[in-house]
Amino acid sequence: MNLIDYPRWPSLARESILNVPTDLRSIKLSVEGKVIDYGGEIDSVVITGMGGSGVVGDIINDLCWFWDCRVPIIVSKNMRLPKRLSRPLVIAISYSGNTAETIMSTNEALSRGYPVIGITTGGKLSTVLGSKGVPVILVPKASAPRYGLPALLYPALVVLERFGVASVTNELESGISGIENALKRIDDAVNLAKQLVNSVPVVWVTESRRGVGIRFKNDLNENAKYYSVVSVIPEGAHNDIAAVTTKQVGLKHVAIMGLNDYEGLYEEVLIDVISSFGARPIIIKLEGNTPLETEMYGVTFLGMVTLALAELLGVEPVSTEPIDRLKNLLSERRVFQV
Ligand code: F6R
Repeated sequence: MNLIDYPRWPSLARESILNVPTDLRSIKLSVEGKVIDYGGEIDSVVITGMGGSGVVGDIINDLCWFWDCRVPIIVSKNMRLPKRLSRPLVIAISYSGNTAETIMSTNEALSRGYPVIGITTGGKLSTVLGSKGVPVILVPKASAPRYGLPALLYPALVVLERFGVASVTNELESGISGIENALKRIDDAVNLAKQLVNSVPVVWVTESRRGVGIRFKNDLNENAKYYSVVSVIPEGAHNDIAAVTTKQVGLKHVAIMGLNDYEGLYEEVLIDVISSFGARPIIIKLEGNTPLETEMYGVTFLGMVTLALAELLGVEPVSTEPIDRLKNLLSERRVFQV
């Protein structure tokens, strides 16, 4: 099976953090007449980005269900930033550096006087931020944004540590072990993919592993060109579950099982209920000894499943023509010219 950049993920993770500046907190800038002090107190972290870059925010949000994160993480996937932020740190992530939504929300952050840190391989984001003296972490390239995930995630984790949001550095290597462990499961990935052929996957996931579910959906969309549904529980147990009696054809339920705590117990009950209606869900057990290891195992393994599925379907996995067409058309409209 062609794993594209996945075998490079351990080295992408390790290389990407070498470029995180050590003196981030001593930066002081003036943008549009406002002084931005990177050493000041922050009361939230906004992670802005789209698609394969934006999922970094979802993953960090998951991790903060387990880590003692000092401030809330706000995941923003839009050209506008949420209103009424007080003293946020903004992490702007765009693999290409050319995504209009991310550049626009980043510009808004700077004009509101918030400290911003860019993570990108280059593009306009790096030029715009660089020209204002805003720190930009340049990361190694991959075949497409989603295949560079560790190179976008790992620097963001180190930034969180530098701003005292969470202690992460002693867990970084365990995340790489999670990737390596998943990379050994090619046969399991192919077997799971076989069960998904000609189906619409309905992915059940607990709130604290929502990022794994979202990333799986995104990879199904982009690699296998497949639609799927993500149901986040407990909320999904109060609406999606009602549809288990549907006459719609081709649905295949996949339950991503996380920890063995009360969320895990809740999920067991949910699986019992949907099974009692004849759904027979496929169960994926996340493996790992730390929150990051488990998360990285999940995103890597499920990403491999989508590549195996693409191969079984005879679908070319890398290109995402409709996304490119949308970006091109947006760039012709004056308001999205960045
Ligand atoms: C393509 C992909 C997309 C992009 C998204 C944003 O591999 O993953 O979801 O990530 O269109 O583009 P970037 O990441 O360049 O800001």
